[in-house]
Amino acid sequence: MGQEDLHKAREAKKDEFYTQLVDIENELKHYREHFRGKTVLCNCDDPRVSNFFHYFSYNFEQLGLKKLITTCYKNQERDLFSQHNSERAIWLEYNGDHNGNRVPDPEEIGINYLQGDGDFRSQECIELLKQADIVVTNPPFSLFREYVAQLVKYGKKFRNCFEL
Ligand SMILES: C[S@@+](CC[C@H](N)C(=O)[O-])C[C@H]1O[C@@H](n2cnc3c(N)ncnc32)[C@H](O)[C@@H]1O
Repeated sequence: MGQEDLHKAREAKKDEFYTQLVDIENELKHYREHFRGKTVLCNCDDPRVSNFFHYFSYNFEQLGLKKLITTCYKNQERDLFSQHNSERAIWLEYNGDHNGNRVPDPEEIGINYLQGDGDFRSQECIELLKQADIVVTNPPFSLFREYVAQLVKYGKKFRNCFEL
């Protein structure tokens, strides 16, 4: 492996780093009042493994959210270190608890198929971005600049909580 290959491998590994629930809770407790009545998008998050989806779906009523949208990139298998071997991705929509148990039950979560692979830069994902008031995720490290540029392009305010 040359230096460049090592660099690429390191970045790829960071791309598949999953954020811990405790870190999400510790960070987002500072912004609770900003979420009331808002549509939140997590656009680099396989909802079956993302703790961002977990956090917002389980705290939906407490935060007073309007809607939670989550898109996943390529892989539809339930493994933490995705091989990205499925080209078609899904997006989920959650509008809160309907049966009063304060838990996001599977039947309360709308599952939709994307035409493409769920790349946050694709037109169908951009349409979801346009619906969002707030975007919260940990994007792939290797695409960080593109990710931020897209937020700026579509007029989404953001706060960078990463230490780069
Ligand atoms: C650093 S991980 C973080 C995952 C999740 N947001 C979290 O914090 O637990 C970045 C995620 O972005 C996904 N990803 C990679 N390239 C992407 C792209 N072009 N569009 C959308 N998601 C992408 C990866 O599969 C990975 O799940």
